Parts: sequence; C-alpha cells; structure tokens
Amino acid sequence: MNMKRDFFGTTADGRQVHVFTLKNARGESARILDLGGTVQSLLIRGRGGKLIDVALGFDTPGEYLAKGGYLGAIVGRYANRIGGARFALNGKEFRLYPNDGKNHLHGGKEGFDKKVWEAEPDGGRLKLRLFSPHMDEGYPGNFGVEVTYAFSDDGGLIIDYLAKSDMDTVVNLTNHCYFNLRGCGDILSHELKINARSMLPTDAGLIPTGEIKSVEGTPFDFTEFKSIGRDIEADDPQLAVAGGYDHNFCLEEGYKKACELFCDESGILMEVFTDMPGVQFYSGNFLSGISGKGGRIYGKRFGLCLETQHYPDSVNKPHFPSPVLKAGALFRSRTVYKFGAR
Ligand code: GLA
Repeated sequence: MNMKRDFFGTTADGRQVHVFTLKNARGESARILDLGGTVQSLLIRGRGGKLIDVALGFDTPGEYLAKGGYLGAIVGRYANRIGGARFALNGKEFRLYPNDGKNHLHGGKEGFDKKVWEAEPDGGRLKLRLFSPHMDEGYPGNFGVEVTYAFSDDGGLIIDYLAKSDMDTVVNLTNHCYFNLRGCGDILSHELKINARSMLPTDAGLIPTGEIKSVEGTPFDFTEFKSIGRDIEADDPQLAVAGGYDHNFCLEEGYKKACELFCDESGILMEVFTDMPGVQFYSGNFLSGISGKGGRIYGKRFGLCLETQHYPDSVNKPHFPSPVLKAGALFRSRTVYKFGAR
C-alpha cells in the first residue's frame, strides 16, 4: 500500500482541495479527496485483470459542491433523515436545519460532505480530521471526528470512524459512495445479497414509521442473491414511496458481513462488512442525468449506495439502537468494502 498527494482544484470560495491516491499491491487504487473525505474513484480489477472505476464522482471541487447527491462523501453529523428536523436529548429540544422538506437530511446545509478536512498521511493510510463546533447545524457539543481510509492488498477499502464530543450528542457517520461494478450504465443487473431479515417501512417523507418489518415475501427480501431490477418495479407501497429502494435494512449486532454485490459482466464482487446496526440500500432513484467524471452521464439508477449507519430517525425512536454519544466517550466504528473478481 502506498500513497501520493496531488492538487485537485479550488472551490468557488477559494479553498484548496487535494486528492490522495492509495494504491495496493494488485495495482488497484482509491482516490480520496480532503473535500468531504470523498472517495473520488475506485479502480478495481475485474475478471481478466482489467481496471474498472466502480465509484461515481466528479472531476472538480465545484461540481461536488454544486451538483449534490453526496457522491462518495463522508456524511455527518447524522447521516440519513431526522423527522421534523428536531430531536430531544436529556429533556432539551434541538432544532436542526430542514433541508429535505420539513426533515433534516445528511447533516444539513453545510454537512461534513461540504467541508475540507485536515488530511494527514499515516504510513499507507489516510487520516482525515474535522472539528464541528457546538450547535453546528443545531447539534449539541463540540465534536471532533477522525476518519481513516486504508486500501489493503487484498482489495479492502477500510473506513475507520472515531468521534468525541464534550457534551452528550448524537452521531451517525457513513460513506455515501455510489457503486457501479461494471463502470457504466445502470445497476439493475447487479446481484445483491443483504443479510437482513427485516427493514424499516417509511412515510412519504422517507422517515421510518417505527415498524420493523420482515422482508419475507416482499421485494425487500435480499437474503439470497437477487438482481436489483427483479422486483424494483413491483407493485409495492414502499417501493412507490421511494421510487425504488431507499430503505434501511436491519442487521445483526456486532461486526459482520452485511451485504454482497456482484456484477457478472465485470466479474467484480463487493462484500460489505460493518459493526453498524443498519444499512441504507439506495438504488440511485434521484440520479437524474447529471454529468460526472469524464463527461459521463449518471442517469436514474446508474449507481447504488450501501450506507452503513444507525437507523434513520433513531434520535426520535427510542426502540431503535441508540445513536447517542455520551460526553467524553469515544465513538468507534468500522466499515469495509472488499473487492475481488470471480
Ligand atoms: C440517501 C437518501 C436518499 C437520497 C440520497 C442523496 O441515500 O436515503 O433518499 O437523499 O441520499 O440523493
């Protein structure tokens, strides 16, 4: 594993952005920006050894800030949605910025994806640090976060999250990579397996209703490999609400394999390991023909996200695993996206 640092570009407000290339012994590479801690590209060897870029992204900092979609970014402080953009903690109400209708999404207006992080290469790994002051976007506590990326010789993109706050607060950090294991076109023929027997139905604003529902006999059953396109147009109220898949799947406790994604055309298999209790499977329903890297057009369902996380709106649902981080306690979490060819 080795690393190189290059200038990537300047934002409209004059911030310099750098790109760090992590290369492994197989000659595969991950390019990470200090802007948003973003995975800008992932060159992975498919069947026959050909390198394929399996991550959606942009060529300039300005596009990341203007085009939206959280492509490849670290999302925080609280990934996914908070209903009514408010929550109560220790008897006190906190109001957040409503940037998704009346709800709060992906950390708000100026979330972690829009910040330039302090980057420090550490051996072959890349450490990214960010400080978020008390009441940033409405969240309590002076909050420090450190994300470390490593890219192992056996094809594992390892993401370690650490966070600490000086007051009780909430935390939900994820990476918002859009994967396309064939490198182009839509992802409907990708085969997906999710080790989850239940999921969270949502209301029209994509806020979980609170019900934890069995996937059995529904289009949400990915307990065995199934193509994403197989049931995506099925007549199902939950698919209708989100315009496809955009739901949290409930995982086992502890560190485990959460998902597997396979593309027969490239031969690439991606396995997702995490210690988080949930994974949001988002089938890229809102991608609407934006132009990405090299002028490539990203249409509806040209990429999919498997965002490891706390359950959405868990700040307002006491029966969901708690996202509360106590003052002075260390939040620690790991997610690995592991690639190989078959
Ligand atoms: C997440 C959400 C989606 C959408 C995307 C960004 O995955 O669940 O509803 O907001 O981010 O476009």
